[in-house]
Amino acid sequence: MPKLVVLVSGGGSNLQAILDAVATGEIQSQVAAVIADRDCYGLERARQAGIPAYLLDRKLHRSDLSEEIAKLIPVDCDLIVLAGFLSILNAKFIQKWPNKIINIHPSLLPKHGGAGMWGLKVHQSALDAGDSESGCTVHYVSEEIDGGAIIAQHAVAIAADDSAESLQQKVLHFEHQLLVAVIAKLLA
Ligand code: GRF
Repeated sequence: MPKLVVLVSGGGSNLQAILDAVATGEIQSQVAAVIADRDCYGLERARQAGIPAYLLDRKLHRSDLSEEIAKLIPVDCDLIVLAGFLSILNAKFIQKWPNKIINIHPSLLPKHGGAGMWGLKVHQSALDAGDSESGCTVHYVSEEIDGGAIIAQHAVAIAADDSAESLQQKVLHFEHQLLVAVIAKLLA
């Protein structure tokens, strides 16, 4: 059975979508661990599902945090999923797992990505640009923030009366579907 590790920093709704898909068999994998860089509801979701949940300190230096995370990942891990994980991993960590680390980003990359582009800022940026559509992207993690090879995207139309909050909700719905579909495919 392939092994997954999920990294979270927030509410963990993408993690929940993964856990639900594992339960139904859509994703044929075992979630070996959930790792958070701050106390967050994602950890609670892992505990409720009976999955080992680890809390690390995001204030650690980037390389120390990356090293602590690496220690918690089984050597035979097949995929590391950044599901709303906000800390930046160092080059050593990324090079240790070539093409095995993926991230979900709430825009159509390369638009509205890069350092500091997370949460509502991403959606406000799409609105400020006057874009007619936004969406979500699953990509491999490289050393360039949000710059790794794109695996899949899903577009979402922006309505004239959308706010950053409403757009975030619309996009999040499709993030869950896209992330699950990509994981299922990568592990098949
Ligand atoms: C999602 O929009 C994800 O794309 C972004 O952070 C949000 C996390 O949501 N990077 P959740 O914690 O999965 O609910």
